[in-house]
Amino acid sequence: MDWGKQNRLSRIIKPDTGRTVMLAVDHGYFLGPTTGLEEPAKVVAPLLPYADTLMPTRGVLRNCVDPNVDIPICLRVSGGTSVLGNLPDEGLTVSMEDAVRLNVSGVALSIFVGSDLEKQTLLGLAELIDEAQVYGIPVLAVTAVGKDMVRDARYLGLASRIAAELGADIVKTYYCPEGFEEVVRKCPVPIVVAGGKKIPEKDALELAYNSVSKGAVGVDMGRNIFQSEHPVAMIRAVREVVHNNLAADKAYELFGELSKETTPVPA
Ligand code: R5P
Repeated sequence: MDWGKQNRLSRIIKPDTGRTVMLAVDHGYFLGPTTGLEEPAKVVAPLLPYADTLMPTRGVLRNCVDPNVDIPICLRVSGGTSVLGNLPDEGLTVSMEDAVRLNVSGVALSIFVGSDLEKQTLLGLAELIDEAQVYGIPVLAVTAVGKDMVRDARYLGLASRIAAELGADIVKTYYCPEGFEEVVRKCPVPIVVAGGKKIPEKDALELAYNSVSKGAVGVDMGRNIFQSEHPVAMIRAVREVVHNNLAADKAYELFGELSKETTPVPA
């Protein structure tokens, strides 16, 4: 692997623990003003000191993130559809030249294995990898789950492995209670776990704990952080789980303590 790419990867996945807390705030690219992310600048700023990497869209990065802050960026570069349309019908939304200009540490795109546009999204991933390779930029593949897809180990293993086979450097997928270790074992590149829809904080911390204890290198979590009543307390608790293997019940206790000292998000 070339030096530049390894250097960028080491900004995303921290070499001291081999883990990462990625903060996903790219939801607006197909969901518009997602609950909790209505004003990205206000939401993101207090969370950045506790995130290892930020995953925004180009528009949120340019308009809502202070360029003076030292945070690696994994830029969402796929889109072109909305929640009202056919989600798998994505294309590239950012040129590699602009990604370089934005000084990103990685680029991210979704694949929709099993959808009618599977081939389009997989070839899109391959094309992105070819372009990113020129500049030594790591590619994160998001295994999006189509409407009829079951999030079981067989499907997640299939999608994750295909992403890795095509050359993705990191795979973002979902946690599944049965067989997640096998998903990780059969994927030759690091896996980060998406948080998914908002669930109680205790459950989200358990999801993070189970994910890393079964081999994921961390989380790429959005809604379960920024939709919490106490987002800063939540990301700090998630950090302890991911980087220090804090058990979920202890992390939830910590979340409770930190919630008292951090300002809740205004209603
Ligand atoms: C979804 O399309 C986006 O890529 C999100 O970044 C991803 O789903 C992770 O966010 P959350 O934890 O909210 O699921």
